[in-house]
Amino acid sequence: MENESRDARSLAGRRVLITGITDAASLAAWAARGARQAGAELVCTGLGLTPHHQGLSDRAEAHMSSAFESFQQTVAEELGAETPTFACDLSLDGSVRDLAASLAEREMVLDGVLHAVAFDRTLRPGGKTSLLETSREDFLGCMDVSAYSLVALLRELIAAGVLADGAGVVALSYLGASRVVSHPYKNVGVAKAALERIAGELAAELGPAKGVRVNVVRFSPYSASRAGGAIPGLVEAEKRAADASPLGVAHPQALADEVVHLLRPGSAITGEIRHVDGGQNLLA
Ligand SMILES: NC(=O)c1ccc[n+]([C@@H]2O[C@H](COP(=O)([O-])OP(=O)(O)OC[C@H]3O[C@@H](n4cnc5c(N)ncnc54)[C@H](O)[C@@H]3O)[C@@H](O)[C@H]2O)c1
Repeated sequence: MENESRDARSLAGRRVLITGITDAASLAAWAARGARQAGAELVCTGLGLTPHHQGLSDRAEAHMSSAFESFQQTVAEELGAETPTFACDLSLDGSVRDLAASLAEREMVLDGVLHAVAFDRTLRPGGKTSLLETSREDFLGCMDVSAYSLVALLRELIAAGVLADGAGVVALSYLGASRVVSHPYKNVGVAKAALERIAGELAAELGPAKGVRVNVVRFSPYSASRAGGAIPGLVEAEKRAADASPLGVAHPQALADEVVHLLRPGSAITGEIRHVDGGQNLLA
């Protein structure tokens, strides 16, 4: 009983930065609710307009503004209106630097970071679903947001002195990082492979330097989120995984539980790729 109550508050006194919330169905929103229930104080950052965005079309500006409003509303409703929110485009170094500076100004030192962002232009309706036909621009854009952003984010947080020694970092990935899957997950699959290697390299660099742990969680196919819903064929892939995986598809609450576990202080787990996928990764 005593263990249970200690467990339930395992992130008490820890401040966790959550990226990648779009709406209540976002995997990041599930993880954020889990971290909050475990006692964490949250800081959330969502894609929004910043002074570093130049030359955007009116349509793109309107889209970014409405996405940020919906992010803020989701955070207020799901996590509490007192939760601080910041606009940040993780593909722009200046924007990431501003985020880190804003945290430093408010003396918000982080004990945890969730990286839950990805973007692949080839997955839009009518986009290229062959890697061979993927343009350099679409390849690099996907790699930038979905993989390099973890490097940029941790670098700027460390430079601003807002990543605590012993912090836990978790990035979200998918089986398509190492397997050719049945639905189009080509360009972003390559970027996820890079993200996973980046997590390993940063685990090796930041462990000795700061005791920071960096881990990856691969989750089941999940079509309820904005990004998942945009992947052609993901609904069918989810059904197949539900039927074939030893435990079916994982519920996003199971992802939240694993993220909380990996963010707990004092764990000796780093550089790991965990599967929260009902055992889908075992299948041929
Ligand atoms: N949906 C799935 O099947 C699935 C499975 C495993 C892992 N994942 C991963 O989980 C994470 C969250 O995805 P989700 O399915 O919850 O979808 P989601 O659409 O809710 O989240 C994706 C987030 O990425 C953000 N983003 C995109 N470009 C950005 C940029 N330049 N700067 C800052 N943020 C940016 C979006 O604003 C959005 O909040 C992603 O890394 C995704 O690859 C998803």
